[in-house]
Amino acid sequence: MKTVHVLNGPNLNLLGTREPGTYGAQTLAQIEADLRARAAALGADLVFKQSNQEGDLVTWIQEAGSAGQPIILNAAAYTHTSIAIHDAIRGAKAEVIEVHLSNVHAREHFRHHSYISAVAKGVILGFGPMSYRLALEALLEGAA
Ligand code: DQA
Repeated sequence: MKTVHVLNGPNLNLLGTREPGTYGAQTLAQIEADLRARAAALGADLVFKQSNQEGDLVTWIQEAGSAGQPIILNAAAYTHTSIAIHDAIRGAKAEVIEVHLSNVHAREHFRHHSYISAVAKGVILGFGPMSYRLALEALLEGAA
């Protein structure tokens, strides 16, 4: 059975109450539950984690990468700042799909650059929680 890691960065633990006009009303726990149901239907195991610490994300990317297991990554604000996460993906040869709830390109200029995109297999953004589901389906149905 394929294992897919879903890794979430800082402030995503606040979903549900955090800027609902931008990020929607669903909590991270609800996104996780929806994704677990979809993964089970597609015959995959899900490891779902969130951290506000950059180093946790680096370690988790290294672990998944060296196990040869794919990652759906919403690095949140670290997307726009973290050379360490870029290097972890590259160094561990991790297969990553970058996701964002919001369309970062329609937002502030500082969100337009991603350190992840250049080392990602694909990028899905702007579809709210469905961004995660589309990434999972792309991974499991072989499009990615
Ligand atoms: C985000 C977009 C980032 O710019 C922001 O810092 C986040 C969430 C998204 O999912 O839309 O925390 O990654």
